[in-house]
Amino acid sequence: MTERTFSIIKPDATRRNLTGKINAVIEEAGLRIVAQRRVKLTEAQAKKFYEVHAERPFYGELVAQMTAEPVVVQVLEGDNAVAKYREVMGATNPDNADEGTIRKLFALSIGENSVHGSDSLENAGIEIAQFFKDEEIVG
Ligand code: CMP
Repeated sequence: MTERTFSIIKPDATRRNLTGKINAVIEEAGLRIVAQRRVKLTEAQAKKFYEVHAERPFYGELVAQMTAEPVVVQVLEGDNAVAKYREVMGATNPDNADEGTIRKLFALSIGENSVHGSDSLENAGIEIAQFFKDEEIVG
């Protein structure tokens, strides 16, 4: 089934000028970038986006990292896009990520792990709506 998922290229990757290389991995996997914008997240935006992690010990550092430098927010479209992108990203901790995945190739640590991708179709819809209007997504 054709789906859309939400992706963030995180500050550790934009800082190292890796946006194009990450986009190449995404596109080679058959996912289509149907919306994309570079933006500096506000603290309020980052806190809201990661609200589910608010009680976790890494929440403060996560929000600080995500707001420190620009990110690239994206909508990816394709067959089984949610699961496919999670496969393409690799495990959250790059030490556990498979060869060829974005996190194996580029991530620095579990915190600076280069990309975020939605974990379910329902969350994809919620996350996409936080950053894009319908007319900004061109499939
Ligand atoms: P992401 O997919 O963006 O969702 C939550 C983020 O928290 C995760 O990727 C990691 O970058 C970050 N994080 C930092 N420390 C941890 C941890 N110990 N466990 C899980 N996620 C962590």
